Amino acid sequence: MFKLLKSPIVLAITFVFSLLVVSCQPNETAVSQTPAAIPSPVAARPVAYVDRTLSASPAQLPPLPYPANALSKAIDTRTMQIHHDRHHKSYVDNLNSALKDQPNLQKLSIEAMLLNLNAVPENIRQRVRNNAGGHLNHTIFWQIMSPTGGGQPTGAIAQAINQTFGSFENFRKQFNQAGSDRFGSGWVWLVRNPQGQLQIVSTANQDNPISEGSYPIMGNDVWEHAYYLRYQNRRADYLNNWWNVVNWGEINRRYQASQQR
Ligand SMILES: [Fe+2]
Repeated sequence: MFKLLKSPIVLAITFVFSLLVVSCQPNETAVSQTPAAIPSPVAARPVAYVDRTLSASPAQLPPLPYPANALSKAIDTRTMQIHHDRHHKSYVDNLNSALKDQPNLQKLSIEAMLLNLNAVPENIRQRVRNNAGGHLNHTIFWQIMSPTGGGQPTGAIAQAINQTFGSFENFRKQFNQAGSDRFGSGWVWLVRNPQGQLQIVSTANQDNPISEGSYPIMGNDVWEHAYYLRYQNRRADYLNNWWNVVNWGEINRRYQASQQR
C-alpha cells in the first residue's frame, strides 16, 4: 500500500490536482488593487452646489456656512457639531479610504460616481454608495439652511410650489408626512423629476435622488442623528420646526439650476 502511494503515477496525479486547487483560489488582493476601468462614465451635472460638482480627489469636509449654534430655532448646537464634525466627516473619511487604490474613480465627481456605481468594484461598491451619498447629501443640507431662514417661500419656487401643491401649507404637510413615513433612516426631498415636474420623494439610507434621474432641490435629513438630542423620538416635531431655518434664497438658486438640462 505504501509503495502504491509513492508510485510515480500517483505522485504525478497528486501534483496536477494540487496545481488545479491553487489556481482555483480567489485572488482577493489582485481584485481589490486593480483600479476600475471606466470607459465612458455617464456625465453628471452639478448637484452638490449650483455651479460645481463635488470632488473625490480627495473628498473634503466643507465648513459649515454658519456657526454651529446659529440654527438653534430648530437644531441645537451639540447636534450640529456632532452631525457635521463627526457624521459628515466620517462619510468623507470612509469614502477616501474606500477609494485609496482607485485613481480612476477618484477622477470622477461624487455625482458621476453615484451615476456610475456599476463601474465601482463590487468589493467597495456599497461603501462608495453609502459614503459618497452621505457626503453629497450633507453638503446640500448645510447650504439649504440659514440662521435667517424660515417663513414663507419667496421667488420662483414659491410660485412653483403653489402651482404643483396648491399652497405652501399643503406642500409642507406632504413633505412632513413623507419624512415621517420614511421607515428607519433616510431623507425627504423636493425634486425636479425626469419629466420636469416638482415632486416630493423619500430615499433610504444615504441614497440621493440623482440615482432616479431627479434633481434634488431641497432635502431634510431624517436620520435620528439629525434630531435625537433635542427631539428624541419625536421626529414629527423636528420636521415641523425645521421650516424655521429653511434657506429660501438658496432653494431658489437650486430651483433655477434644476431647470438647466
Ligand atoms: Fe445626517
